[in-house]
Amino acid sequence: MKICVTGGAGFIGSNFLHYMVETYPQDTFINLDLLTYAGNLETLKDIENKPNYSFVKGDIADREFIYDLFEKEKFDLVVNFAAESHVDRSITNPDIFVRTNIMGTQVLLDASRKTNVGRFHQVSTDEVYGDLPLERKDLFFTEDTPLHTSSPYSASKASADLLVQSYFRTFKLPVTISRCSNNYGPYHFPEKLIPLMISRALADEKLPVYGLGENVRDWLHVYDHCTAIDLIIRKGRVGEVYNIGGHNERTNLEVVKTILRELHKPETLINYVTDRAGHDLRYAIDPRKIESELGWKPVYNFDSGIRQTIQWYIENKVWWQHILSGDYQSYFDRQYMELNK
Ligand code: NAD
Ligand code: TYD
Repeated sequence: MKICVTGGAGFIGSNFLHYMVETYPQDTFINLDLLTYAGNLETLKDIENKPNYSFVKGDIADREFIYDLFEKEKFDLVVNFAAESHVDRSITNPDIFVRTNIMGTQVLLDASRKTNVGRFHQVSTDEVYGDLPLERKDLFFTEDTPLHTSSPYSASKASADLLVQSYFRTFKLPVTISRCSNNYGPYHFPEKLIPLMISRALADEKLPVYGLGENVRDWLHVYDHCTAIDLIIRKGRVGEVYNIGGHNERTNLEVVKTILRELHKPETLINYVTDRAGHDLRYAIDPRKIESELGWKPVYNFDSGIRQTIQWYIENKVWWQHILSGDYQSYFDRQYMELNK
């Protein structure tokens, strides 16, 4: 199979490529990524010379470029990770979220139709369901929970999901959608809660907790997200949505205190700051459909996953320090000089 992975230089896409390129040597993987601030080719050093992996720099919203690429490559499968993904950035600059997350997905859908792609998988998020009240621990998002978004980020992801579903119903494009809870793990860009707190705590810097730190997120190790997507693209039913989550709910304050405890750092580093506008209260996934239908099971719980992740950040300081210094952005120029000629 020839598989196009968009956004493969980002956090989850790169973990997915590491997993898939090793697990399926008979398949060919093409990583299509624009290398925005969130794209980092240093993350893919381990696999960049594998015979079944290659990289193409490009914008999923550039119709002409995408049509040419799809005509040339004739992909069997497209897995769309490419997105603007940070809620705070969507509050300060919503435009780019509409362009990449909605228009970019539509261009990929059109290109997939034109070239008869066998399966289009959209990597979505539980944020499309909005939030749940803090005091109703009995409520969970199922695949039938109505879409009810809060931020420009989640609104753009929900719009993309609706387009994907419309291409299934109207054009019979074989699609699947996965909606996963908050991920954490290796290669997570240090603007998101967990890597931000680990990197700052290691440097004895203040840890900015929004509001009272009582908002709840349902954390899933990125490895378990990757195995779930692998199952969905191979065994999932077309036209279906699959929620992915492992019942690992924690308040933000619990997460930050766990990180401080593991790093033997004092809680005095915690600094309460102005709350995020429209801040979603609680996310919590009901994963019974993917568990019962596809037999998916996570291998990490939060305690084992956060320990592994903290250890990874301790052992891979160079990776995230290159991000903080901006050095990672010149990797493409150094590594792929011939593409620029
Ligand atoms: P990320 O921000 O780390 O990576 C996004 C990647 O997309 C980057 O490599 C970036 O260069 C690339 N990209 C951005 N715009 C592009 C464009 N126009 N054309 C081509 N490439 C472009 O994001 P992530 O955390 O890895 O998330 C990946 C996907 O998973 C997203 O669709 C996100 O909505 C979804 N998701 C994320 C989480 C989470 O907790 N991080 C949870 C559920 C779902
Ligand atoms: P984030 O990692 O941005 O993911 P999302 O908003 O998609 O859930 O944030 C996770 C939670 O952590 C969210 O409730 C906001 C909070 N948060 C902070 O308290 N401080 C921070 O500096 C950041 C980035 C997030």
